[in-house]
Amino acid sequence: MSQSFALSADSLRVAFGGLVALDGVSLRLAPGRITGIIGPNGAGKSTLFSVLAGTLRPDSGRVLLGADDITRLPVHRRARRGVARTFQLARELDSLTVLENLLLATPDHPGERLWPLAFARGRVRRAEREATERAMALLDRARLQRLANSPAGALSGGQKKLLELCRALMADPDIVLLDEPAAGVNPVLVESLGQFILDLRDEGKTFALVEHNMDLIAALSDHVCVLAQGAILTEGSFAEVTEDPRVRAAYLGGELAREPVGAAA
Ligand SMILES: Nc1ncnc2c1ncn2[C@@H]1O[C@H](COP(=O)(O)OP(=O)(O)OP(=O)(O)O)[C@@H](O)[C@H]1O
Ligand SMILES: [Mg+2]
Repeated sequence: MSQSFALSADSLRVAFGGLVALDGVSLRLAPGRITGIIGPNGAGKSTLFSVLAGTLRPDSGRVLLGADDITRLPVHRRARRGVARTFQLARELDSLTVLENLLLATPDHPGERLWPLAFARGRVRRAEREATERAMALLDRARLQRLANSPAGALSGGQKKLLELCRALMADPDIVLLDEPAAGVNPVLVESLGQFILDLRDEGKTFALVEHNMDLIAALSDHVCVLAQGAILTEGSFAEVTEDPRVRAAYLGGELAREPVGAAA
């Protein structure tokens, strides 16, 4: 990849009424790397993802894809350019099957375009076959293949999170924003989820990973950014940021937050 950063945020500011959720956040996702984003509840992590993915317009600041300013690009056009996200709360449709949920996420279904009818039928069938193959391959990698024809509503919480990741991967994105993929997932599934993400990174995909599970952040992140109260507190390796007393203070709040920087936490 020629650009030095896959996706970056430049001085993002978002306020909800009087509440400033992002207060000048700048962030760079290195291509082919996993950037962990940690921070206490309410720090602004999901808001940041909404701005990066295009579901929320910042009050000011820019989002860049490589060198291109995509701040005003709507979500579906960002998706077409290779940016995908998962949501903190899985958004599957319970009454549809697992496979159907993935087919719904297929980008640019040719049946939606105006092709001459004679061509259209063949194209639609071929696209459907390809999408089904792609969905089944993803389900196989996520070890959900035997559940392909089960209603999504019958999945466990952890399996729903895996389905959410597969859904985001249906468009074969270059950049994937994962919002708490391991929340509520049992430890065995967390391990296979982590390995799945590492494999995808090794294939060249770029990730931003928001997680409260610090073991997963430590195991996966090539770089960690700490967000607190709408601002980047610090960034570095997992070891570096977790040794920073300001980070410990941000997590624990209260008493520690008032200790001078450098005091043992
Ligand atoms: N749509 C909204 N309207 C009003 N306030 C919002 C909205 N979305 C988020 N907020 C507020 O903005 C702040 C940041 O929220 P955000 O969801 O980004 O935090 P987070 O870091 O993802 O937290 P968590 O770890 O709990 O998921 C919070 O104070 C939240 O209440
Ligand atoms: Mg959140």
